[in-house]
Amino acid sequence: MQARFAVLGGDGIGPEVTAQGVRVLNHVAGQFDHDFSFDDALIGGVAIDTDGTALPRATVDLARAADAVLLGAVGGPKWDDPTAGVRPEQGLLGIRKELELFANLRPITVFPALADASPLRPERLAGVDILFYRELTGGIYFGDSGRSDGAAYQVMSYTTAEVERIVRLAAAAARARLGKLTLVDKANVLEPSRLWRQVTTDLVTAEYPDLDFDVVLVDAMAMYLLSRPSDFDVVVTANLFGDILTDEASMIVGSMGMLPSASLGSSGPGLFEPVHGSAPDIAGTGLANPLAAILCAALALRHSLGLEAEAAAIEAAVHTVIDDGLRTPDIAAGGASVGTVEMTDAVIAALNG
Ligand code: NAD
Ligand code: IPM
Ligand code: MN
Repeated sequence: MQARFAVLGGDGIGPEVTAQGVRVLNHVAGQFDHDFSFDDALIGGVAIDTDGTALPRATVDLARAADAVLLGAVGGPKWDDPTAGVRPEQGLLGIRKELELFANLRPITVFPALADASPLRPERLAGVDILFYRELTGGIYFGDSGRSDGAAYQVMSYTTAEVERIVRLAAAAARARLGKLTLVDKANVLEPSRLWRQVTTDLVTAEYPDLDFDVVLVDAMAMYLLSRPSDFDVVVTANLFGDILTDEASMIVGSMGMLPSASLGSSGPGLFEPVHGSAPDIAGTGLANPLAAILCAALALRHSLGLEAEAAAIEAAVHTVIDDGLRTPDIAAGGASVGTVEMTDAVIAALNG
């Protein structure tokens, strides 16, 4: 198969880890006889520095023309000045919106050999396998905002159609998994959450009555992720709640450096981004964990190219290196560790079998 990838490395460790995803994809192309090509484009702080904008038009055009987009991370202290008027994060929000990537899939997959890296007790980790569906192009992230006279506001609003389209995807995924769907909201306080609850309940009742469906308030969910994470299968939630809960859930696995995500729309290329950020504290040290970015490459093959065997081969190789004891510092629990490139070398060696 021929496929074009747009590669938006971004800032900090973004380009360091995305380069490792590209290495793995190049290897898979050779192994499975595919013709993959890669084109780089600017996003985030580096784009502000060279172009004055966090999302240059050329980047959007390149992404649109690609079969899949690999993204690293954006942001960093250099661009944190609140008076600057432009921020790297605008690039990320902008590309999600431009490509209408309304569904952000964040799988929480536990690696038993990483139990030491998680602050949770091993018995809590047994059987954890959660798939978050985070709404990605609506809600408070995209609401009207402003400031005046020492006050600030940002509006949270959702339409029925925005809720329905992501709930349908999440419900279909639940049906193909364990048949359990959990809506997380704040319907005891927020009007948009009350819309989510009504629309989701109606849709599940009408179209997915076979699902084991429940609703959990977001504050309680923050607790349940620590106390009974193995009770959840597919979780669907609004943009902001999904952002916060998945960083929390990363610690069930052991590190943000392990979590990939797939941002999908109803057509066009998907965008595949680690859940983690640009990690300015370790950028340039060569110690970033590349596994989230490598697992993003697997998700790109599965969701944008339909190459299931290749995606599964990458995931199996990641499991092999973890079982073999390779650890970047974030998952080493104080023990011996390797760097970004060595970890990727090991994944490629494992792909060779
Ligand atoms: P962060 O995810 O960058 O880092 C949080 C902690 O996790 C840090 O200690 C970091 O060293 C560690 N970490 C993250 N990824 C790692 C990896 N692959 N390997 C090893 N350790 C890793 O979050 P932050 O520090 O709150 O944010 C830094 C910047 O990143 C901010 O500008 C923020 O806006 C941005 N950000 C971008 C994205 C994205 O582009 N998708 C996501 C989150 C945050
Ligand atoms: C994420 C990040 C982004 C978000 C930021 C950097 C805009 O935290 O992808 O989780 O909040 O969506
Ligand atoms: Mn986040």
